Amino acid sequence: MKLAIDILEERISDVMASVAGREGCAAIVRPTTDAKFGDYQVNGIMSLAKELKTNPRKLAEQVVEKLDLSDICDKPEIAGPGFINLRLKTEYLTARLLEVNADAVRLGIEEISKPETVVVDFSGPNIAKQMHVGHLRSTIIGDCICRTLEFLGHKVIRQNHIGDWGTQFGMLIANIERRSHQALQGKTIGVIPVHLAEFEDFYREAKQLFDTDENFAERSRAAVVGLHSGDQAWIGRWRALVTQSEKHYQYLYQCLGVKLIHDDIRGESFYKDKLADIVKALQKDGLAEESDGAICVFSEGFKNKEGERLPLIVQKSDGAYLYATTDLAAIRYRVGELKADRIIYVTDARQSLHFEMVFAVARKAGWAKDNIDLVHVTFGSVLGENGKPLKTRSGENVKLKELLDEAVQRANAVVKEKNPELSEEEKEIIAKAVGIGAVKYADYSNNRTSDYVFNFDRMLAMDGNTAPYMQYAYARIKSIERKSESKDVNIETELAGVKELNLSEPAEVDLAKCLIRYGEAIEAAASDYRPNYLTSYLYELAQKFSVFYTNCPVLKAESDKRPTRLLLCDLTRRTIKHGLSKLLGIEVVEQM
Ligand code: ARG
Repeated sequence: MKLAIDILEERISDVMASVAGREGCAAIVRPTTDAKFGDYQVNGIMSLAKELKTNPRKLAEQVVEKLDLSDICDKPEIAGPGFINLRLKTEYLTARLLEVNADAVRLGIEEISKPETVVVDFSGPNIAKQMHVGHLRSTIIGDCICRTLEFLGHKVIRQNHIGDWGTQFGMLIANIERRSHQALQGKTIGVIPVHLAEFEDFYREAKQLFDTDENFAERSRAAVVGLHSGDQAWIGRWRALVTQSEKHYQYLYQCLGVKLIHDDIRGESFYKDKLADIVKALQKDGLAEESDGAICVFSEGFKNKEGERLPLIVQKSDGAYLYATTDLAAIRYRVGELKADRIIYVTDARQSLHFEMVFAVARKAGWAKDNIDLVHVTFGSVLGENGKPLKTRSGENVKLKELLDEAVQRANAVVKEKNPELSEEEKEIIAKAVGIGAVKYADYSNNRTSDYVFNFDRMLAMDGNTAPYMQYAYARIKSIERKSESKDVNIETELAGVKELNLSEPAEVDLAKCLIRYGEAIEAAASDYRPNYLTSYLYELAQKFSVFYTNCPVLKAESDKRPTRLLLCDLTRRTIKHGLSKLLGIEVVEQM
């Protein structure tokens, strides 16, 4: 069944079109901000009135007169300069609620009618470097976008565009060679870093040698040449490094509950043999030109502060290709081979200009025709308490692994305090769910385009819009189930028999209305790529549940009220679980 908001939008838009005598009117139905105005309001009348040069209130009256929403709403009310307020009928509400309840898998939310093939490019860490807090946002926001679009019925193809190619690998594999020589002489034990921390040292060591030791620098350059010409020894070292480093981020994906697997990797190296062709094609079409020895594409509308044309450099004067060249090849591959209808890039806002320019060139070159959606989903920075990008005391990027470890540790302390009777093992499982969940949820709950301050205490607080609060709300409903046994209430039997609902208390109606709006929240989150619409919804739901549970006894309710209330509890629990675990990838726990 369609969502109420979509049915209303369609029907009212149709009536507006017939009143206006033209196609394509938009009712713009939105949830009201204050329940005293009803549940939804129609915002589209004013602009249509302006266009028709008529009085908006009068237009609203004409629309209302022709409108038949009697199966869904009470009589529409005109308010203010020309809003139409709508209130859902109890019969509609109960019918919809029963329908949502009956759908164990999708909670009454339909798949969209026109699924697309959507490529989502996210995470993209760089090889031989530890993932740091900067990779957190792309990784988890991208994951949530994938999960949400997939749930709505799109075919989602995840692409992990890792940084696994480039001249910096010369010094890294030269260092592997150097270390293996030493190992043969019994000097070094580890040739390739295994543990996370060793990667940093390894990288630093290579860099330092490159800067100070001419022989090593020479060997590094030879390594780059070797890599490019496909020399097996150098390729072997490079591959070993990539494999080792991939283990590290696969481990983090697993910790974070992020669905990215080995097969999703199409790193920069994947495109290396396609780059010459990209440049050639651009030159052939007359789109690229030489400028200061480099091959550049100048697209309309890109100027620097001095008003000079901004180039997208696709090949440097020394012949090397760039980040942009690879991204052009990736677009060509994703449209041509993966058959993408839409490509979404999840990176921080600092890459905006890069993607704008890449998109412009891909369009001009015909690699992404107008029917292909190219979307850059940006996000702000994670800040420390001082309002500056989060760093360690010594000024380094905070490693993601360390951050997550600390979150789990702190969550463990919270769990211990709240529930000392639990076994160590149980505590650990809960602490993991709460700690990782808290970090993710805090990130999701912020408007993604803003920066946010990373604060363990706040994200682990039991009250407010946090993961622990949501997980607790879930566990609390679970505890009603546990209690029911001692009270001799058989929830399953009572729920199985529910054919009609008895929504009488305002808190019940409020909760019921919130429950049937889950699909709206998902749609909104998907169309704007904003996970905070999901967290806001879940938080609102948990709050409404809390009011309901305070005001309406459940297990002790009279027999004519109890089935409805049990259903409200159960559906709230399932909705929270679906939102957290299916869409946000945050685990729920049975008790806290
Ligand atoms: N490796 C890049 C970074 O760390 C992210 C890759 C984003 N994706 C892309 N197609 N450029 O910033």
